[in-house]
Amino acid sequence: MSETEPIRLCFVCLGNICRSPTAEGIMASLIADAGLQTRIEVDSAGTASWHRGEPADARAIAEAARRGVALRSRASTFRTGDAHAYDLVLAMDHTNRFDLLDLTPEPELRERILLLRSFDPALADDDPHDGAVPDPWSGGEEGFAMVYDLIEAACIGLLDHVRTTMLTEGHR
Ligand code: 4NP
Repeated sequence: MSETEPIRLCFVCLGNICRSPTAEGIMASLIADAGLQTRIEVDSAGTASWHRGEPADARAIAEAARRGVALRSRASTFRTGDAHAYDLVLAMDHTNRFDLLDLTPEPELRERILLLRSFDPALADDDPHDGAVPDPWSGGEEGFAMVYDLIEAACIGLLDHVRTTMLTEGHR
């Protein structure tokens, strides 16, 4: 058993059935590939509760399966105080981030709430999505492929960040 507490990450979107389950699944897969399952834990939630208890959207599950990643989460809702349970809370878009900040009055916890794509090392100043993962829910399947690519690039950068700055010896 590990003597240290794992790093806990929570991915958050609106419904918790498209973007954040995709991020949770991709990150879990990257963590498993790196053999870090006991050091980093992943979770996801939505700022809205409309889909609570539901599995991920079938289009998100299909896109992830096409890339070899299983999405197993059930939708849950992010509540006031939940930021306490995580080291980082990764918002998919700016509205998600503002909603999370509204649920988190404590300054030291607000610092943990970041945009997922801020970890994409290739994120450009003139990013067409303004640094967000756009909501694919009301669009077609091609939107789910695009969103998958954005999330994967950011999760690779996020894992690198966690490994180099949060899992270093003596810290955790
Ligand atoms: P998500 O996508 O936030 O990526 O899970 C959505 C899912 C459902 C709805 C909106 C966005 N909805 O309005 O029900």
